[in-house]
Amino acid sequence: MPLFGVPKEVTVGTAMLGVAFATGVLAGKRYPSLVLGTPKSSIIDESSPLQQYILDHSLREHPVLKKLRLLTADHPRSKMMVSCDQAQLMANLIKLIKAKKVIEIGVFTGYNTLNMALVLPDNGKVIACDINEDYTKIGKPLWKEAGIEHKIDLRIKPAIHTLDELLASGEAETFDFAFIDADKESYNEYYEKCLHLIKKGGIIAIDNVLWKGEVLKPRRDDLETQGIHHLNEKLLRDARINISMLPMGDGLTLAFKL
Ligand SMILES: C[S@@+](CC[C@H](N)C(=O)[O-])C[C@H]1O[C@@H](n2cnc3c(N)ncnc32)[C@H](O)[C@@H]1O
Ligand SMILES: *[C@@H]1O[C@H](CO)[C@@H](O)[C@H](O)[C@H]1NC(C)=O
Repeated sequence: MPLFGVPKEVTVGTAMLGVAFATGVLAGKRYPSLVLGTPKSSIIDESSPLQQYILDHSLREHPVLKKLRLLTADHPRSKMMVSCDQAQLMANLIKLIKAKKVIEIGVFTGYNTLNMALVLPDNGKVIACDINEDYTKIGKPLWKEAGIEHKIDLRIKPAIHTLDELLASGEAETFDFAFIDADKESYNEYYEKCLHLIKKGGIIAIDNVLWKGEVLKPRRDDLETQGIHHLNEKLLRDARINISMLPMGDGLTLAFKL
């Protein structure tokens, strides 16, 4: 079998170059920020052709989401934004479990807040927690443009306070989904409070669980990595949930409440 035939190799090589070029051009049109600067640090090489292929063959981004992503790409802290494949997975999970009430801890410019609000029913709610209005005001006009502003309840104060208020007002076990993506030192507290707030069968998604690989050798004085690593160790043995740890973006853990 002429598997190693020179002509074939040349053909395949040329074809692959062609595909890479076509993909780049398409990607450049559809997801420019993925080509000209990645939106968030990732454990996977985002410039790899296979990663680009995954995005080219799976993303179906709402036009207003795309607008907000491109707007966020110009922000000096643009790397804080959730990756669009993570956001799409969360939207699919929210639809799958027919979620009505969701929490987001860490809004930034509101890409994932918008993403979740778009798939919630008209009477659904996102309790969106952040401390920085300079960030959240960037996305607000686009929440309005997408016609889902009424589903977003933005609370500007430390997220712990908002979660305590929800618990105090009797909202334990009434939420379907939570996304934890704020200060890493508080991850354990966020997780515990969210676990009280969500129903059985609800899901908690936790971002940055691989922290660019730092979890492999957490330094004692690095409270962010310690916070993430301790929670990872605890979740493995936590009988209240089932888990999946996905190498998507900077690492995404899904905890399913039993
Ligand atoms: C990684 S960004 C969130 C990205 C966002 N989920 C998205 O989809 O693009 C982290 C956010 O957490 C916010 N934050 C930091 N400490 C916080 C706290 N104690 N309570 C609430 N939000 C906080 C920051 O202001 C920042 O906007
Ligand atoms: C789910 O969690 C329970 C309780 O810890 C455990 O017994 C079970 O094996 C887990 N199932 C899966 C699929 O991980």
